[in-house]
Amino acid sequence: MTDIRFNVQPGGCLQGSIRVPGDKSISHRSIMLGSLAEGTTQVTGFLQGDDCLATLNAFRSMGVEIEGPENGNVIIHGVGLHGLKAPQGELYMGNSGTSIRLMSGLMAGQSFVVKMTGDRSLSKRPMKRVTTPLQQMGAEISTEEGGTPPLSISAGRKLQGIHYDLPVASAQVKSCVLLAGLYAEGETSVTEPAPTRDHTERMLRGFGYDVITDGSTMKLQGGGKLIAANIDVPSDISSAAFFMVGASIAEGSDLTLQHVGINPTRTGVIDILRLMGANIELSNEREIGGEPVADIRIRSATLKGIKIPEALVPLAIDEFPVLFVAASFAEGETVLTGAEELRVKESDRIQVMADGLINCGVNAKPTPGGIIIQGGGFKGGEVESHDDHRIAMAFTMAGLCASQMITVNNCANVDTSFPDFVGLAASVGVRVTEA
Ligand code: S3P
Repeated sequence: MTDIRFNVQPGGCLQGSIRVPGDKSISHRSIMLGSLAEGTTQVTGFLQGDDCLATLNAFRSMGVEIEGPENGNVIIHGVGLHGLKAPQGELYMGNSGTSIRLMSGLMAGQSFVVKMTGDRSLSKRPMKRVTTPLQQMGAEISTEEGGTPPLSISAGRKLQGIHYDLPVASAQVKSCVLLAGLYAEGETSVTEPAPTRDHTERMLRGFGYDVITDGSTMKLQGGGKLIAANIDVPSDISSAAFFMVGASIAEGSDLTLQHVGINPTRTGVIDILRLMGANIELSNEREIGGEPVADIRIRSATLKGIKIPEALVPLAIDEFPVLFVAASFAEGETVLTGAEELRVKESDRIQVMADGLINCGVNAKPTPGGIIIQGGGFKGGEVESHDDHRIAMAFTMAGLCASQMITVNNCANVDTSFPDFVGLAASVGVRVTEA
């Protein structure tokens, strides 16, 4: 990967009204379910980031005819649940945990052998969390010795429905098991220890598949079919989060983010920022294709440090890098606990953020399952993103209120979730350039 560096000059505020790119989780699922449906699915607002393109290319290589993407429009000619063909070679999932984990469930039910690989970061991420339940269902699936990719899945194994108690609150694992359940005999059910994003359940229902949610348990029967449905992908609240924090910390900001997905399993970032004193207003709330959407207006406010409620952790799991930036500019101490999962994301987000913040002059102390941040003291300097898109974008927003320039190294990975982040950020007032 060629290195791209972001240089951020301090100062400025965020003004205007913008639409950030489409939701990554929903975009992945639109390709998966659209490919396996009967009929033609039209997707609008699709995220043309590298992660979702990895999913799209994987289905193309299994014989699905997919037109686009062009300006977020994709047309998928579904082949039905049993219509995929053996791919020529390995399925390369790039940086994308969602692709490999959700697709492992789908691939376990196919009549051909599949090998799934990934980049350097994905090749270090834990996969036992999906292979364990899939093996219980009867799949034959192997990992490298440490439980990491590549994943190799044998052909034609008969899957049996199971009940699975998720050991971690993970939408990827929940989705993997439910998607394997489409191919299993009888009922497949999953109980989650805390609510996680429910896009898979919602979209399955949108494609005419009966999924029952009973408290913290989701269940479905194998052997049904998916009927094509059109999907309008809302803007990704995880991408919007960078701007919510930027506008909150930079004095004089008044920014509107249009058409953002506000699924209640994703809105932890709004709750946490409001607890910190942020000024966030939702308007024009509506439902689009089974997902709630709103416009979000953020005006700058004085933030204060808080103890982040653990119940909000899974609902804001991808937003912590930028929430740590908010904490760095807040008055007082912010304490995060119960967030061990952050250590196994695209990077170890606790350690990498702590290192970067400390480098910039902040008093930050990583703990096994979280971090303690004293607000104030953010100067600037050079930070490493460790090829993690969300680390790169979080430190870019910090530049708004830093006292010195910030250089963020290794930012090419931003394209996995937010193509043209720099252009959009600069258009509303962040003094960022790419080198
Ligand atoms: C995702 C689930 C989350 C999240 C990831 C996308 C999904 O991962 O961090 O970016 O689309 O299901 P976990 O389920 O592993 O927490």
